[in-house]
Amino acid sequence: MEWFENETLWVDFTEVLFSAGRADEARARVASSPLLRVPAAAAVLDLGCGPGAYAIPLAGRGAAVTGVDLSAALLKRAEAGAAEEGVELRLVRADMREFVEPDRFDLAISMYTSFGLFADHDDNMRVLRNVRASLKPGGRLLIDLYGKEILARDGGLPHVRDVEGGTLTVRGTILGDWERFRDDFILVRGDRARTAFVEHTLYSASELKAMLVEAGFTEVECFGGFDAEPFDNHARRLIVRGSRGSDTR
Ligand SMILES: C[S@@+](CC[C@H](N)C(=O)[O-])C[C@H]1O[C@@H](n2cnc3c(N)ncnc32)[C@H](O)[C@@H]1O
Repeated sequence: MEWFENETLWVDFTEVLFSAGRADEARARVASSPLLRVPAAAAVLDLGCGPGAYAIPLAGRGAAVTGVDLSAALLKRAEAGAAEEGVELRLVRADMREFVEPDRFDLAISMYTSFGLFADHDDNMRVLRNVRASLKPGGRLLIDLYGKEILARDGGLPHVRDVEGGTLTVRGTILGDWERFRDDFILVRGDRARTAFVEHTLYSASELKAMLVEAGFTEVECFGGFDAEPFDNHARRLIVRGSRGSDTR
């Protein structure tokens, strides 16, 4: 089994990975970020939508959002969250390596390091080609990642933090000469300890841009944060945006 197919990870660590604070941050970004501004009724694809941190506020602003995720448990959470907010989401359980709906979306988003999950480079390229095929002419893809330059600057050092009823230890490891990154979690509550890990490919800005170009995207550019800041030494995220282009294929 691949790590992301482990439902126990998403269930046991859900409030650690998807805290209320993160949902608030996503909501604020949707309200203010020029990168996430969409016209009402725009068709938006949220690839690896998880519990809907972005999908729900985007739907709240009038977008027709399709959330795709492999985890049934997280899709259930997204469904409950949308009902709570009184918004509609179309939720699809699918592997992003397989999901394609040709010419359907104005914007596709991949948030909070939901891209680069696969150890095989060809699988990650396949995701990009699927997304491009799923965009309308002129449609855009926005990828938000924990990028290689930011990790190199900020460390990813081990840390312990308090969570409701216990403590969480997080320990990051760089794998394969900076090709991949793995975060190991230990969650201790009372006398029970649970462990899990997540893993993703580490991309530099130029590596990720080159992949988008190879997949056929045009106008490929990077940003260092959700206010569309430049991707420079102050960057907080690696955000890459590309357009399908207005051509036929
Ligand atoms: C780090 S979480 C981010 C979730 C969401 N984008 C957010 O901002 O909260 C990564 C998400 O990718 C999903 N995922 C992992 N592997 C997947 C796959 N092969 N196909 C579709 N979704 C997948 C996980 O279930 C999880 O919801």
